[in-house]
Amino acid sequence: MKGDRVFRLGSVKEFIEDQVRSIKEEVGEGKALCALSGGLDSSVAAVLAHRALGERLICIFVDHGLLREGEPQQVQEVFSRNFKMNLVFVDARERFLRKLAGVVDLEEKRRIVGHEFIRVFEEEARKLGEINYLIQGTVYSDVVESGVEDGSKVKSHHNVAALPPDMELRLIEPLRPLYKDEVRVVAEELGLPEEIVWRQPFPGPGLAIRILGEVTEEKLSLLRRADAIVVQEIRRAGLHKDLWQYFAVLLDLKSVGVREGSRVYGYTVAVRAVVSQDALTALWARLPYEVMDRISQRIVKEVPSVNRVVYDITSKPPATIEWE
Ligand code: XMP
Repeated sequence: MKGDRVFRLGSVKEFIEDQVRSIKEEVGEGKALCALSGGLDSSVAAVLAHRALGERLICIFVDHGLLREGEPQQVQEVFSRNFKMNLVFVDARERFLRKLAGVVDLEEKRRIVGHEFIRVFEEEARKLGEINYLIQGTVYSDVVESGVEDGSKVKSHHNVAALPPDMELRLIEPLRPLYKDEVRVVAEELGLPEEIVWRQPFPGPGLAIRILGEVTEEKLSLLRRADAIVVQEIRRAGLHKDLWQYFAVLLDLKSVGVREGSRVYGYTVAVRAVVSQDALTALWARLPYEVMDRISQRIVKEVPSVNRVVYDITSKPPATIEWE
């Protein structure tokens, strides 16, 4: 997973030129929309389309409140300020949290986030007048995991399902033939910043499926802090380029601990780190003990309502990468 896979489609420069040309040809004088998440795939798709269309590409970024620490600000910084893209930033945090209140079922959470995302997206898109195209950062593994080409459906609401069904937008998917590490090569060539080039995959339903059980504002802020520590320590140890994903999960169980001489009853955080090529299979990462120790010590110190940290030592299959 070090970005060393041969770019199978000839030179990366040619790939970019070809895609830019074909987006120009297809869209002509029209306009295109892009649902920008700040993840690697949608970022690369957006930058390619921006090269082709300039101001006629409109990116919509929905902050559903289920993102990791600092993400919404970073998206604005990179795409609005640096790349000068036409970016519509939608703060929909309250709306999603309201819809998720009281919901514990994992597929229900996925369904709600997916459904609500499409509604917000549609509402914003309608305000923009006539637009005929949608740029999407679908990559090869999305196609396989969603069973679009390959038979059975693995899990609901993967990236490819996020298309508004009744919007009559024509779909453009420039990254469809690429593996993740090839997308990284394209990202580097396009001049995207290091944090985006090496950003780990992040599920559409976001932290909602990393909080087992009900999603609340308190749990979100707690998980965000714990997750940021995992990310910081993995990067500090220089391991981020070797791992497919590394993150924290907030479990729906509490356990007993001792803090300053008295018994406490606190949350448990699971740390998940995996090595993979395409997420179809994954091995649990053999992280150095010192790194695990730093992560654990920092989480219990900096997130006081957590008093236990566990490390997930299961591979996929049979476990999936996410816990829900
Ligand atoms: P699993 O947990 O199925 O995950 O091994 C495989 C890859 O897919 C991501 N994932 C999702 N992505 N919507 C998404 O957009 C989802 O509902 C979803 N569930 C899992 C996961 O992070 C991993 O990269």
